[in-house]
Amino acid sequence: MPVFHRHLKHSYPRVVRGEGCWLFDDQDNAYLDGSGGALVANVGHGLHEIAHAVGRQAETVAYASGAIFSNEPVAELAAALDEVLPEPLAYSYFLCSGSEAIEASVKLARQYWRERGRVEKWKVVSRVPSYHGNTLTALSLSGREHYRAIYGPLLTDFPRVPAPDRYRRPYGPTWDGSAVIREIERQGPETVAAFLAEPVIGSSLGAMAPEPEYYQRIAEACRELGVLFIADEVMAGIGRTGRWFSFEHFGVVPDVVVCGKGLSGGYAPLSAVIASREIVETIRDGSGAFVHSQTYSHMPLTAAAGVATLRYIKANGLVEHVASMEELFFEKLAALRAHQAVGDVRGRGFLAGVELVADRESKRPFARSERVVERVAAAALANGLVVWSNAGHLENGDGDILMIGPSFTISTDEIDEIVARLARALEQTLGS
Ligand SMILES: Cc1ncc(COP(=O)(O)O)c(C=O)c1O
Repeated sequence: MPVFHRHLKHSYPRVVRGEGCWLFDDQDNAYLDGSGGALVANVGHGLHEIAHAVGRQAETVAYASGAIFSNEPVAELAAALDEVLPEPLAYSYFLCSGSEAIEASVKLARQYWRERGRVEKWKVVSRVPSYHGNTLTALSLSGREHYRAIYGPLLTDFPRVPAPDRYRRPYGPTWDGSAVIREIERQGPETVAAFLAEPVIGSSLGAMAPEPEYYQRIAEACRELGVLFIADEVMAGIGRTGRWFSFEHFGVVPDVVVCGKGLSGGYAPLSAVIASREIVETIRDGSGAFVHSQTYSHMPLTAAAGVATLRYIKANGLVEHVASMEELFFEKLAALRAHQAVGDVRGRGFLAGVELVADRESKRPFARSERVVERVAAAALANGLVVWSNAGHLENGDGDILMIGPSFTISTDEIDEIVARLARALEQTLGS
């Protein structure tokens, strides 16, 4: 019986091994992993320390239901997160994927307000474009129309406002945060449970960071209007932007933080919802239980991967390392601008977005029918380079963005190699 792969008309190389920033297939082809897959492999592939920690945990106890037991790895992981998160973020709930954790964070916000007697609060304001996951509520909250189109009847209609875009629209209400605040007011704050956003916007807008005032204004308004701020740190968190969490760039502290991906660096499927004292203790002192459970929540094996990953990042000073490499990284990536289709190269830390355009002057995008970003990513792969592609971030479904986000341990020679291979792929696909 064949594997049901995502693309059914496509033949995938079969990966057999990973080491550092490199992946190898069964034909002995080597691929430089310029994006850690979907911005996941933050500490690189094949690390013995993490693999052994996961193996040891599997031998000790891989699984015990989170409904019946606690365990040492989840306690250690919560403590490790506590060390790097500011007050009042205090309680960590562990799941497996970013999408699940987003769903759980929305349910948590809803339950919190209900326990406070605010039964009418359920709406979550999010932005377009955005990506918060592929399960139905996470997708409802995402602004990625081609993922949503056929599932329309299954989605919840949440209010969504345009995201801040430094490249195309660095002015006006979407840039200064007032679009979000106005939308909350328009909906009626008594009906709004939360505002959900990626502080540094990941793949959906190509590593876009607004000015600090954007989040400061919104966070202040949320506090005044009684709306929780949920930060989706699934892609940008755990050191990827040169800070432990991307909200730190903006001088704000959210009420709930969701992380995934780099939390276990791909060594196990692991995500976390970290909530403020006020939220969790309101529920503790009220009904006493978060009405949400999943078989693989609080699992010893996956948590052990998280503990070992965070230990590795801390022991090697990798968050500080990413911050110190940021300038050099972007200096090197700037060479890609030599290609006429590169409209913008932007980002923070080791999270970079390369926006491709048909005309640099007017910023006119390629027509979606040309499938430019998919073709460039395929050419990159043929040149032994993995990059992450994102299409359709503009209103009419156009928009081509390449994401670059290597392991925090990448060498400068390997960064040069990413640039060289991507420049070649651009030239092969689009001419010089
Ligand atoms: C910002 C963000 N949130 C949520 C998700 C969903 O995570 P997962 O694919 O693990 O469900 C992603 C995945 O790319 C993401 O980038």
